Amino acid sequence: MYLGLDLGTSGLKGLLIDDDQSIVGEASAPLTVSRPHGGWSEQTPADWIGAAEAVMDALAAKHDLSAVRGIGLSGHMHGATLLDAADDVLRPCILWNDTRSHAEAAEMDADPQWREITGNIVFPGFTAPKVEWVRRNEPKLYDKIAKVLLPKDYLRLWLTGEHVAEMSDAAGTSWLDTGKRDWSDALLKASGLTRDNMPRLVEGSEVSGILRGELARRWRLSDGVVVAGGGGDNAASAIGAGAVHDGQAFLSLGTSGVLFAANDGYRPDPATAVHTFCHALPGTWHQMGVILAATDTLNWLGRFTGQQPAELTNALGKLQAPRRTLFLPYLGGERTPHNDASVRGAFVALDHSTDTEAGTRAVLEGVAFAFRDCRDALAATGTKIDRALALGGGSRSDYWLACLATALDTPLDVPAAGDFGAAFGAARLGLMAATGAGAEAATQPPVARTIEPDTSLTAAFDEGHARYRAAYQALKEF
Ligand code: XUL
Repeated sequence: MYLGLDLGTSGLKGLLIDDDQSIVGEASAPLTVSRPHGGWSEQTPADWIGAAEAVMDALAAKHDLSAVRGIGLSGHMHGATLLDAADDVLRPCILWNDTRSHAEAAEMDADPQWREITGNIVFPGFTAPKVEWVRRNEPKLYDKIAKVLLPKDYLRLWLTGEHVAEMSDAAGTSWLDTGKRDWSDALLKASGLTRDNMPRLVEGSEVSGILRGELARRWRLSDGVVVAGGGGDNAASAIGAGAVHDGQAFLSLGTSGVLFAANDGYRPDPATAVHTFCHALPGTWHQMGVILAATDTLNWLGRFTGQQPAELTNALGKLQAPRRTLFLPYLGGERTPHNDASVRGAFVALDHSTDTEAGTRAVLEGVAFAFRDCRDALAATGTKIDRALALGGGSRSDYWLACLATALDTPLDVPAAGDFGAAFGAARLGLMAATGAGAEAATQPPVARTIEPDTSLTAAFDEGHARYRAAYQALKEF
């Protein structure tokens, strides 16, 4: 048996698979985000441990965990978890969708070495500009930094007692030489840090450490359970969805939205605002377009209207052509393609007939147009996506999938019932580390159905997207 632990933004999930990769159990525990100021987004690392303990308690109550051979980790990327020399947490973790360090990020990005070495724009959500923000705004705290860990790697420290990161998540820090798969001494120096402040690096499918005896005894696991490197949540999802060979792609509708393509080589193109990171398997990379609010926009509309997101989407019938009303989903700024931390969301062209249904359609279309921008950005790097697997909570809405397939003019494959996301990918990485298996263990899931683009609406969606692009330009000035 193998266990995947995925530290998500809204909850931590544990998934158990057997030797044939069938799911045998799962449990989850909720997490919340604190937004003390505009553009800020934080979590308390102690809450991650609390959630992991709750998940392990729930799994151990239902399953005999003594058969677990390997554990894999996945987690939301880019968070700055700052530890002192005693491994005590210095401040709340600054998360991936926190944009407070936009000025620091812009300054760093203006120095060409960052893009040259990392293959990426220095986005405000990445780790290095956040540490720069801490250096300038919380200097006493900065002076105490002994180690900088990514969120899932803090869970690893608790599980194994070791400071270790793996390539896919490390590539999102702005300190990795992404082509060489090693920390860049030059970039660390620019942040006032050295390799000593960084965790040791392993590949996602390698062993990173052994589960501590105390924890093994607490949940009745055997001695010597290996903990795999794991992956950032997107690379781990790709392992779960079998997106490991060149061109294999997925579209994820989670808190963030991701259009992901696996690459067999390192093909950076930072000017497009596409992210180019290491994959969780040795010798492979991936590219992705990332939007900061996908299902988060529906959650927002749900709070606004007093309805649950599912109620909002269930009320919609067959896919309709976009009307004049547009929604721009930039609730917390945007990454691909704009790299714009200060833009905010908007409804444009409301009229007397705009009701909750029309508003919901506009929100789903706005996110679909944002994904189309990601598709275009990926295409500009030479990466063409012919079809993609649909993943994440938002993919439960058929209306949204039809809207996305049509806006992207790309068929979307819906996996048969099951969980093929980050926790499953993490469990697979646990299996790889324990058994020595490789990419062959990351097969694609059975496809239940394919959502084809509605070609009768292609022209209307093209026109809607052109208006959406124009609205961003206008809003940017505003
Ligand atoms: C990727 C990104 C998000 C987070 C949270 O660059 O910031 O997808 O990993 O899921």
